[in-house]
Amino acid sequence: MEAIILAGGFGTRLKPLTYTRAKSLLPILNKPMIAYLIESLPNSVDKVILAVNYKKSQIEEYFIKNDFGKEIIVNDEPEPLGTGGAAKFAEKHISDNFFVLNSDIICSLNLDQMIKFHNKKKALSTISLWPVENVSEFGVADVIENGKIIGFVEKPNQEDAPSNFINAGAYLLEPEILDYIESNKFVSMEKEIFPQIIKNTGKFFGYKFEGFWMDIGRISSYLSINFLLMNQKKINNIIGENFVNKGSLKQCSIGNNVKIGEKTVIESSIIFDNVKICDNIVIKNSIIGKNCSIYDNSNIINSVIGDDETIIKESNLNNNYIWNKPIPEGYPEKQIGNVIK
Ligand code: GDD
Ligand code: MG
Repeated sequence: MEAIILAGGFGTRLKPLTYTRAKSLLPILNKPMIAYLIESLPNSVDKVILAVNYKKSQIEEYFIKNDFGKEIIVNDEPEPLGTGGAAKFAEKHISDNFFVLNSDIICSLNLDQMIKFHNKKKALSTISLWPVENVSEFGVADVIENGKIIGFVEKPNQEDAPSNFINAGAYLLEPEILDYIESNKFVSMEKEIFPQIIKNTGKFFGYKFEGFWMDIGRISSYLSINFLLMNQKKINNIIGENFVNKGSLKQCSIGNNVKIGEKTVIESSIIFDNVKICDNIVIKNSIIGKNCSIYDNSNIINSVIGDDETIIKESNLNNNYIWNKPIPEGYPEKQIGNVIK
């Protein structure tokens, strides 16, 4: 069985971290986000098709170095084709029913249980569902008692939403669903294809599950998932190799080759690889990209520092992000595709 992983987004809401890396390679407790997803795939999935374009060589390189015991196909779109277009572009690798998975979700969904549900319902399409309070940043399903979905609307205004059950970003589809998608065209699965399947087939179902779910689409949720997993694992900090620490840490994820100076306090933050943090510095609720240097007597609160930046001594950053280099060519200013209204 195949799984298509949608990993071609720019991750615009995670800039400047995504100016230099694919969103799916962002480290969560020092392991790339996409590794969690691959590890959650059932044994029945033996082939993984990575739908990529932006920063595809980074993703390719990661899978050359790391073996997950499954065949990995890097399917490079000539240009971003959207969530539906990317699935269609993978059609040549599909033999039977298959998963389509957003690559920016960490959750407790059991895909084996979802397969059982899909088969029991004789569905053409099953999507995972998760309840949230504010649905306006997600796709929302109109779901009735037996799990059947009778309507779907992407990023509605809160007051127009048909329910509080959102599309949790995992789909199990029968191959004929791909007939609904035009080839080599930008197509949104959520906006264009789901409503058509619902209308034309009546075999569109929603699978609800329990546990936890998080979309790592923005800086706040990227920080939160690190804290949530640390709590689950009952660890206070996670520390990479070659750590030199003269300061103090609370609820931090620290990459490899990090140095922290005297009287420096770091709380609820993520520090990437090869970072030098000098003396008498406070860092809270912030992310420091790789190869950064932070000099003495600085405060960094609720901020994100892109890779390879230098923060001069006595800097005060609050609710800020730092990026002093050119923005990569072709990187969009705003999210493309399923944009929030
Ligand atoms: N290959 C490829 N090509 N992948 C893409 C493209 C593309 O053109 N555009 C987006 N993706 C990937 C992203 O990398 C991400 O893994 C996934 O598709 C979803 O795109 P996002 O940009 O993260 O969408 P979203 O978070 O605003 O909304 C989606 O996820 C929500 C749940 O988190 C939708 O599927 C919503 O309906 C859903 O509720
Ligand atoms: Mg997302």
